[in-house]
Amino acid sequence: MHVPERIVTNDDLSEFMDTSDAWIRKRTGITERRYADEGVSTSALAVPAAMAALEDAGLDKSDIDFIIFATLSPDHHFPGSSSYFQAKMEMPGVPAMDLRTQCTGFLYGLTVAASLVRTGLHKNVLLIGAEVHSHALDFSDAGRDVTVLFGDGAGAAVISASEDDDPSELHSFHLHSDGRYASSLCLEVWDIARKPYIQHEGQHGVVPPHARWPAMNGREVFRHAVVGMRQAVQEACEANDLAIADIDLLVPHQANMRINELVARGLDLPAEKMVHTIQKYGNTTAASIPMAMCQAKADGRLQRGMNVMLVAFGSGFTWGSVFLTY
Ligand code: ACO
Repeated sequence: MHVPERIVTNDDLSEFMDTSDAWIRKRTGITERRYADEGVSTSALAVPAAMAALEDAGLDKSDIDFIIFATLSPDHHFPGSSSYFQAKMEMPGVPAMDLRTQCTGFLYGLTVAASLVRTGLHKNVLLIGAEVHSHALDFSDAGRDVTVLFGDGAGAAVISASEDDDPSELHSFHLHSDGRYASSLCLEVWDIARKPYIQHEGQHGVVPPHARWPAMNGREVFRHAVVGMRQAVQEACEANDLAIADIDLLVPHQANMRINELVARGLDLPAEKMVHTIQKYGNTTAASIPMAMCQAKADGRLQRGMNVMLVAFGSGFTWGSVFLTY
């Protein structure tokens, strides 16, 4: 994983907008997050995370034969961030694609990567989840419900076929999507059905505020996230003939501490089996699961041979689970 150096506390945010450390901690569990400096793009933030993943896997970048880049904060409208990332990594010729399933991006990416490896089409897939949210957030009072939640960061993993004596395995993939809720959490800065496709107002063609910043129905997201994540874990348990007690570690997407606590309670999962990193990093969307795995590994909580459940919910709505032996 890689995060920018700049730490932004809740008190720092209260200097820009009408919010408080007490409100943010109580409603979300977040105490601080990281912000990238101006000039740093999502693809740039991903490079150190990818280098760390390669080192951890004992591979060279020349071993990678496919790149998947999951993000909701791409560098540009097009081409995909995977192109910019690939150029920065100096890996010309390797197939590279973007994946746009927001907070569930890493789980969709794992599913695609595992399919590519299992079918023998590719050997070593580099999967990135990276976000620079802080450059696209509303720091006025009007944006406070969304802005306090998000942080910048990147996570990466290499997915390869395991050796015969290696217990590591990706066992199951349960992905879902319901586009009826697309407008419950979205950023409409461009709309290709319009002419011109970016909304303008005024003499200088300024994009109006409602289209410039993310819009969220927080309560609706919260309600669906609690149910969707619980059901996705139950689905994986059923498919793998697992009891909740068989899960050694549950690594959820980090959207809100209260969402994850309610998921654990709904599953009757002991609190100590769940990984929380939201306190330090906020919601880093596609990066949150690989960052949480990385943190759990560094803390000694994630160890070889463990039964690990990954679960996520986010904009789209998209949600799902991946069950693996680490
Ligand atoms: N600081 C202070 N007050 C605030 C802030 C803030 N940052 N944001 C909103 N408020 C105010 C509201 O204006 C409202 O004031 P009012 O009662 O005078 O109208 C009051 O706090 C309560 O607002 P609610 O929206 O009802 O608060 P709620 O308890 O629902 O918490 C929150 C809001 C934290 C956004 C919650 O709904 C949530 O976490 N939802 C999930 C959203 C989410 O996780 N999105 C992430 C992306 S999707 C994903 O990753 C899963």
